[in-house]
Amino acid sequence: MPRIAKLYFRTAIIFLIIGIAMGLTMAISQDHSAIGAHAHANLLGWVTMAIFGGYHALNPAKAERRIAMIQYMVYTTGVALMVPALYLMLTGNPAMEPVVAIASLITFAGVLLFAVIIFSGETAPRPATAAQ
Ligand code: HEM
Ligand code: HEM
Repeated sequence: MPRIAKLYFRTAIIFLIIGIAMGLTMAISQDHSAIGAHAHANLLGWVTMAIFGGYHALNPAKAERRIAMIQYMVYTTGVALMVPALYLMLTGNPAMEPVVAIASLITFAGVLLFAVIIFSGETAPRPATAAQ
């Protein structure tokens, strides 16, 4: 598996653990105010990151490009900032709103970079196969 795919799956599982921990906390306390942080930790974190990682595993040539690592850094920074800031905002810290806004824009930039990766063509030369 390409390095970037492994990295995405490792990051994704961390967000699933955090997301489920928030879900369990909400369920046990019967206080669902953190619902948005829980939903987005699981969906922007676990689900979307696993899809990004799966795409790279299926496209190893694209996974080796510099843009793949840049995209990972931008997207992960956005989500890693957005989830805790959203959690704090929803649990009584309205001052976190500008951080959530900036983190959301960084996350969106990461998504746009992934669109560039998806729409870019394959550039790696295919190994020649012996005609028999
Ligand atoms: C043991 C694991 C989990 C627990 C205990 C849990 C718990 C909860 C709770 C208590 C709520 C609030 C429900 C409400 O107020 O209406 C919720 C909402 C939600 N959860 Fe989870 N959750 C878990 C796993 C997941 C996973 C893995 C995902 C996604 C992959 C997920 C996605 C969502 C979403 C999208 C909502 C919002 C639904 C809505 O808008 O009505 N949850 N969860
Ligand atoms: C930067 C990206 C995103 C932003 C800024 C964003 C923003 C929002 C906002 C403002 C809400 C309404 C919350 C409320 O009513 O309190 C929401 C709800 C929701 N979003 Fe997103 N979203 C993003 C990405 C995504 C993605 C990628 C998914 C799914 C893969 C998703 C799934 C959901 C779901 C299921 C809900 C309803 C659960 C809830 O109330 O929190 N979102 N989102």
